[in-house]
Amino acid sequence: MTVAESPNASSEISLYVIDHRGQKHSLVALDGWRAMEVIRDWGVGIKAECGGACACGGCHVYVDPDWMYRIPAPSEEEIERLDEVHRVEPNSRLCCQIMMTPELDGLTLTLAPGSEPD
Ligand code: FES
Repeated sequence: MTVAESPNASSEISLYVIDHRGQKHSLVALDGWRAMEVIRDWGVGIKAECGGACACGGCHVYVDPDWMYRIPAPSEEEIERLDEVHRVEPNSRLCCQIMMTPELDGLTLTLAPGSEPD
């Protein structure tokens, strides 16, 4: 597996994303940005049709097990939306509901089937 690094990846908050082809990306995230926005804006490729409104389920990801209990728990709204997506696993989350903070430096997410852009 290769690591594709975004520019200036040595500073700020790092977000690691494994895309639908199995390629790992090292992305710079800004404090307060949604993980979905970071993935989308670096051009990794994610459906995210609703733009972060927790309405489409197109930002479904699997959270690395090491991080599962280090990120804030999902809201009731997110849990309800996850009920509507395919291939849900215990570590499933909607990444538009994960706010990046310095505490999440190194967070690793895998894009789930169904979150590929059209
Ligand atoms: Fe639509 Fe996350 S972007 S639910």
